[in-house]
Amino acid sequence: MDFPSSELQPARPGEFPDLVIGPLRVWPPVVLAPMAGVTNYAFRSLCREFGAGLYVSEMITARGYLEGNRLTRILASSHPDEKPRSVQIYGTDPVDVGEMARALCAEGVEHIDMNFGCPVPKVTRQGGGSAVPLKPRLLARIVRAAVLGAGPVPVTIKVRQGLTPELETYLEAGKVAQEEGAKAIGLHARTAAQLYSGQADRSAISKLVQAVDLPVLGNGDIWEAWDALSMMRETGCAGVIVGRGCLGRPWLFEDLAAVFDGRPPPEPPTFGRIVEIMGRHAERLIDLFGPKMGMRQMRKWCTWYTIGFPGSARLRGRLVRVDDMESMLALLGEIDPKTPFPPSALRAHRGKGGRSQARVCLPEGYLDTLDDDTPPRSPRTREEIEAWEKSLSGG
Ligand SMILES: Cc1cc2nc3c(=O)[nH]c(=O)nc-3n(C[C@H](O)[C@H](O)[C@H](O)COP(=O)(O)O)c2cc1C
Repeated sequence: MDFPSSELQPARPGEFPDLVIGPLRVWPPVVLAPMAGVTNYAFRSLCREFGAGLYVSEMITARGYLEGNRLTRILASSHPDEKPRSVQIYGTDPVDVGEMARALCAEGVEHIDMNFGCPVPKVTRQGGGSAVPLKPRLLARIVRAAVLGAGPVPVTIKVRQGLTPELETYLEAGKVAQEEGAKAIGLHARTAAQLYSGQADRSAISKLVQAVDLPVLGNGDIWEAWDALSMMRETGCAGVIVGRGCLGRPWLFEDLAAVFDGRPPPEPPTFGRIVEIMGRHAERLIDLFGPKMGMRQMRKWCTWYTIGFPGSARLRGRLVRVDDMESMLALLGEIDPKTPFPPSALRAHRGKGGRSQARVCLPEGYLDTLDDDTPPRSPRTREEIEAWEKSLSGG
């Protein structure tokens, strides 16, 4: 099979050290990106079967968690076999964030990440996500609260380059993270205006590596294991965060483990093997969410797992309507199980489209008060929290 980057060599012995995040040592230096609607326990546990690393939950809203919202609690849930357990917090109120960090650590969470990169209008319009680093004093208050709440448990932050090229925030955010006791910083090397369009800007990752005395996690466009090696070699980052590349391809973590251990990645699975993996994934989603919601969640995965297989486009219209495992497996049975993985699917974009946003929504007058550290208002009532949770789609 013709791999686009196969001229690269796997890691040489000792070329990369463990990723060190406070007391945690992570090998290979690979982190599953927090992804809303994606990185629940079902998917994290599946990925972990393929290779070691740090597997972060999707963003969990502090208010929803503290109020005991049912869906939020499911999304934050784990099993005793998940070690280290890692949760991403979304919150803009330092009091809530501190309280949530304390509660999570009391539950046994061993790593907390903080979302300061979400670009969606619903979030930035409230002054959350990627709008927070525009206000370094507010960012500092929130990070400080998380670090204090977490005690010995390491806290990391995840940011974008900024809002727009004119409003870059990542270098200042790195400084704040370091001063406030965060143990690493992840950089999705795009601006919020870019959403997921264009190429991640590796030169920004290199600049952050130079600017801070903290491990930097490079993020953006790791589609194949080779991309992780080239990003680390090119930027000097301490580890990589893998997002869309593993959607419908949890075996990417096996490929990553191989190249970091000095071996080429194994052959990708045939369609028959992928159907087996899909069955396991669906079972776990059903365990987590119940049969109806579990299968509904599985529908988007059906698209991601089958991208590029001959005949799959025809099936997808039906796959995105499946209600139970039997009909899903029956439909998948229409493709020859011996079909090899299509090379065109390796770098096929999944999860988010390639559009950008012309402007990033901010609260009225936000840019006039960048020195302010007052937290924006978070959803408070049960109805507000429920509406908010349903509408979030990550960053
Ligand atoms: C479906 C989806 C949901 C996401 N949700 C979150 C989230 O909850 N928290 C977060 O920090 N980033 C979120 N992101 C951003 C990813 O963590 C990552 O930064 C981004 O996808 C870039 O990495 P990639 O190019 O490897 O996909 C999300 C991305 C996708 C595609």
